[in-house]
Amino acid sequence: MYKYDFKGKVALVTGAGSAQSMGREIAMEFARQGADVVVADKFMVPPSVRKENAGWGGLRQIVSEMEDLGVRGLAVEGDIADPKACRRIAGEAIDKFGKLDFFVNAVGIRGPSGILTEDFDPEAWKLVLDVNLNGVFYLTQAVVKAMRIGGTAGKRIVYFSSQAGVEGTPLMTPYCVAKHGVLGLMKSLSKELAPDGILVNAISPLTFATNFRDATAAVEAEKRGVDVDDIIRGDKISRGGNDLNIPLGRPGYPADAAAFVMYLCSDGNEYMTGQNFLMNGGNRCL
Ligand SMILES: NC(=O)c1ccc[n+]([C@@H]2O[C@H](COP(=O)([O-])OP(=O)(O)OC[C@H]3O[C@@H](n4cnc5c(N)ncnc54)[C@H](O)[C@@H]3O)[C@@H](O)[C@H]2O)c1
Repeated sequence: MYKYDFKGKVALVTGAGSAQSMGREIAMEFARQGADVVVADKFMVPPSVRKENAGWGGLRQIVSEMEDLGVRGLAVEGDIADPKACRRIAGEAIDKFGKLDFFVNAVGIRGPSGILTEDFDPEAWKLVLDVNLNGVFYLTQAVVKAMRIGGTAGKRIVYFSSQAGVEGTPLMTPYCVAKHGVLGLMKSLSKELAPDGILVNAISPLTFATNFRDATAAVEAEKRGVDVDDIIRGDKISRGGNDLNIPLGRPGYPADAAAFVMYLCSDGNEYMTGQNFLMNGGNRCL
């Protein structure tokens, strides 16, 4: 990993509570690079269907790992689909650290997949939009106000969209719609905040080895009457093997995302804002 000096900076990473999540790795990388970090998630210890996650300590474990590195951490539980919780997350960050330099939203839910749009349950549609799009908007409102405290120059926002945010994704339409929306939010905000010196960008993964597909794997395991770990190990599409035609021959790992987030937040990036960066191992060159 390239070395940055984020000493004295404060980062907020939402969606950081799951053991294999990109948010956890991004938060830990900020800490390794010297930043104080607020980690937020809907759950102090997000539930997981995997046996390997049985002893996982969630947000508190992350904070303790950060303190071992000599930086300060703060764990905040909150559902980003609730505007009040978003204001509380930003408020607790300011109460503890007095300012916010970097905001990375790595919350996301996949929602049901394999369902024709004409058959999609409107309640499930609403949930996918509430978490993946409306929640990002609520957080953004609270966080941008918090970022104004102490001056805005050099501050950074990084959103997670998806390759589904730039192309049609059949049988997962609400996720696709929400992720397109995140890019609209990112693009508008980047222009609004450019005069303040806040750069706003997005990363769009295709297939990363995280907890993101756990729920899908659990449904599949039940359908096939097998252990969920077998699905997670064996399902090339869920785990990002070459069934999806990934020229680089592997899924993305949280460290791949973390490396790029660090760069986007560093002084090395002074001129890119309003951009979406695909991370897909070369699958599509859009
Ligand atoms: N993993 C992939 O293949 C992939 C592909 C494309 C896009 N993405 C996007 O990347 C981002 C990171 O995903 P990941 O792969 O690390 O997923 P993940 O499931 O491992 O982590 C997401 C985290 O968000 C938390 N979360 C869920 N709903 C929440 C809510 N309402 N409020 C607060 N926290 C909530 C979960 O508890 C979890 O800890 C997401 O935005 C996702 O949509 C992931």
